[in-house]
Amino acid sequence: MTTLLLASTQRSIGWVLATVVLVGMGVYLLFSFRIGKREVGSEIDLASNRRKHVDDDELETKVLDRNLAWSLVTLTVISLILPLYWLMEPARQDNAAYGWVKRFEKRGANSFEEACVSCHGPGGVGGVASYTLTDPNGGFVAQVEWKAPSLTTVLSRFDESEVLRILDYGRPGTPMPAWGLPGGGPLTSQQVHQLIVYLRSIQLSPDEAAAEVQSGLVAGARAIVTERDPGLTDADDVAAAAEAWLVQAADPSSSDYGAYGELLFNNPAGQGANSCARCHTPGFSYGSSSDEAAAELVAEWPRLAEAGILTGYQPGLGHVGPSLIGIETHFPTAAGHEDFVRTGSEVGSGYGNARPGTGAMPGFGGRSDDLDVIGTVVRSRILTPEQIAAVVAYERSL
Ligand code: HEC
Ligand code: HEC
Repeated sequence: MTTLLLASTQRSIGWVLATVVLVGMGVYLLFSFRIGKREVGSEIDLASNRRKHVDDDELETKVLDRNLAWSLVTLTVISLILPLYWLMEPARQDNAAYGWVKRFEKRGANSFEEACVSCHGPGGVGGVASYTLTDPNGGFVAQVEWKAPSLTTVLSRFDESEVLRILDYGRPGTPMPAWGLPGGGPLTSQQVHQLIVYLRSIQLSPDEAAAEVQSGLVAGARAIVTERDPGLTDADDVAAAAEAWLVQAADPSSSDYGAYGELLFNNPAGQGANSCARCHTPGFSYGSSSDEAAAELVAEWPRLAEAGILTGYQPGLGHVGPSLIGIETHFPTAAGHEDFVRTGSEVGSGYGNARPGTGAMPGFGGRSDDLDVIGTVVRSRILTPEQIAAVVAYERSL
């Protein structure tokens, strides 16, 4: 805000100066034009170089003093303006950079409107994509509604270089197409960069991000408490029971701890943005979130089972990410497993039992990468250390 204010005052000072100079020039031209026009007598009488000038006495006193006084005045003005200039210059440079970021953001917003809103929703809050599933030979299998995750916490889960990769190459096997030239997409690298600058501007604050995760957990907890106690119908009672269930289930000694980890794994908020299942459970993104839901899908599209794409609810069996069944062989300790979920994978660096990472596994414990353009973005953590421990315990039980 202060930078904005500075920008406007500097700009207005500039405008005032420009106006004064322009008006001054106008007045000068007008006068000299009129003086030039004036009909005067003989040139010999009036030419200034022929007129008698003051004598030496006066030249060495009054005229000299006057000139010296004027030099002093101009010197003072210069010595005041120079430091002022140096004082304002950093702000001016910041404003110029800020202006560039804002311009990038605006152009990114326009591209987002054109290319992304149809699936990810206005402002990136999440949406759906109609998608045709095919078998390996290209034969039709099913027409599904695939959840497009909200993008309002994406920079908390991925480094910007990883988001760049997703935008450049898309996510094969899902409706997310390639946008950048490297992946054969239509956008230039500058347009892709502008999209990332736009994404920065729509990221949730840490509190909002935590509230989004919590809203998904509450929705799951409601389903659990109403299933256990069908007599529970009053909305306030259900809400209170759900909150209470969550509190006790989050305790590692609770018999509901596994169910709590499963809720985190399947978190539906933000179109699954904060869940694990969308990348680790086949069909989760188009509805396979329970045995019944999977059975319904297969009943509607029998080719799903025939083509081996979806035969039932298979939590953690792997989709975008690898199967998590028997994950203990890659992470002998829960602590190492938790570390990995906290930071996610990095391109080329080994994890677990030295598998090479591709950068495609998000980090859920908060990220901190440097920005190359001026502007700050809050990188919230998605899950607390306790929540990561719960989801890891669930994964290790699969
Ligand atoms: C045809 C629909 C569609 C369009 C258009 C689309 N996306 Fe996506 N995008 C998806 C889907 C679906 C996913 C999730 C894929 C999955 O299940 O892993 C996704 C994933 C992403 C992700 C990764 C998010 C994460 O947390 O894993 C980013 C970033 C992204 N899209 C950005 C964009 C941007 C920016 C645009 C516009 C240039 C765009 N998308 C246009 C459907 C779309
Ligand atoms: C956007 C997709 C995506 C989401 C969401 C996601 N993962 Fe992953 N996960 C991956 C990918 C891809 C890998 C493989 C690593 C790589 O390619 O760098 C992976 C690897 C893993 C591994 C190591 C598996 C192995 O044996 O190599 C674990 C454990 C894991 N994920 C846990 C989780 C948990 C827990 C969550 C949710 C809190 C989660 N993942 C959410 C994509 C995802």
